[in-house]
Amino acid sequence: MEKKRSNFSSKLGFVLAAAGSAVGLGNLWRFPYLAAKYGGGIFLLVYLVLAITFGFALMITEVAIGRKTRLSAIGAFKKLDKKFGFIGIVASLVPVIIVPYYCIIGGWVTKYLGVFLTGGAKAASADDYFTGFITKPGEPLIWFVVFLLLTAGVVLVGVQKGIEKASKIIMPCLLVLTIGITVYGLFQPGAMDGVLYYLKPDFSRLSGTTVLAAMGQLFYSMSLAMGIMITYGSYMQTEDHLESSVRQIEIFDTVIAFLAGLMIIPAVFAFSGGDAAALGKGPSLMFVTLPKVFDSMAFGNVIGAVFFIMVLFAALTSAISLLETVVSIIHDKWGIERRKGTVIITLLIMLVGAPISLGFGVLDFIAPLGMSLLDFFDFISNSILMPIVAFLTCIFVGFVMKPKIITDEVEKNGKFKAKGYYSVIIKFIAPVCLIAILVFSILEALGMIVV
Ligand code: PHE
Repeated sequence: MEKKRSNFSSKLGFVLAAAGSAVGLGNLWRFPYLAAKYGGGIFLLVYLVLAITFGFALMITEVAIGRKTRLSAIGAFKKLDKKFGFIGIVASLVPVIIVPYYCIIGGWVTKYLGVFLTGGAKAASADDYFTGFITKPGEPLIWFVVFLLLTAGVVLVGVQKGIEKASKIIMPCLLVLTIGITVYGLFQPGAMDGVLYYLKPDFSRLSGTTVLAAMGQLFYSMSLAMGIMITYGSYMQTEDHLESSVRQIEIFDTVIAFLAGLMIIPAVFAFSGGDAAALGKGPSLMFVTLPKVFDSMAFGNVIGAVFFIMVLFAALTSAISLLETVVSIIHDKWGIERRKGTVIITLLIMLVGAPISLGFGVLDFIAPLGMSLLDFFDFISNSILMPIVAFLTCIFVGFVMKPKIITDEVEKNGKFKAKGYYSVIIKFIAPVCLIAILVFSILEALGMIVV
């Protein structure tokens, strides 16, 4: 029996809410550090190519599956074909793995907001400030719990009120502020070398690792291959134009990621010299670079605080969407009531998140495949599970259900302009590339390929 679901009240509501899920730490924190690490311009180019091919096809597919079935991932795949219900289960594992470490980074953002609110721009601009913070046992844990409780609080309010309202105000403000900081950074001495590094592809840096990193980032940033867009689609009204909604979400998400890179990478050149060590900082890049930018500005504490508030909201809307998805999964699967589900999942996130947070300090001897616990969780979800889910989805839609089931859904309200293109990608191009990438990523993790 189908339970009644609340709907987004308008197309704009859907687009903004889905963009609220898509735009988050993936764009602001993860994209710039990957682009910095994997060759700048070449990473950007590969990312853009993947976005207009894979990203587009997968997002259309997921939103259409959700809208057609009006169910979240597990129920949706099962409703389409009983034998393939397992795809929904694998997809649902992804948000479960991401949400604890996402909240840890959300906690870092909250901490930095606190730092700037209390006039700490100078202290935070020191090179070892960030490492000093994440290696402490207690403090990062407290900020993690603060962020998690904020997220859980909003989820308890409900889809419409919580997500829709928040994203309408926050997203445009974030865009404006990011542009402002970017322009300031571009005028700093040395920044132009960074612009060149970021915009000019160096083809000698093109490798399997770059493609894999860009692909994982694409899924992560657009909240794909994890059932999230299926859930969003399940709330979308049939009168809304699916193809153009998806395009708008993708463009918005990509523009924010692009700008975040343009804000951070030239700043790495201007403030940290732009050598390989400065560019290869990984997860700490944003937290090391931006405080230096703010510290160099007049009113740096105020601007830093406003910036981290916006980032905090962007992170919150994404975390809300993650938590919301997990709650909706256990609701559809086991009928667990929403509030109760939120409380249970929040407690579980605390349990799993604590060791990940401690993994930078007292638990740093636990290093699966030579990675920190946070990087390991990130690797399992982005480089292993998401390509698997994406591959299974393509095979299922391309050969079992046939693309027509998706194109019909898209065409319920207007023309599907990229219909032919869509079918070719979903049936052939995407599955072949995904398998190649997956095999590569596993071999690399096992140390069988050295890059
Ligand atoms: N897409 C979001 C971002 O870019 C993160 C996210 C990942 C949200 C997974 C939901 C699920 O930050």
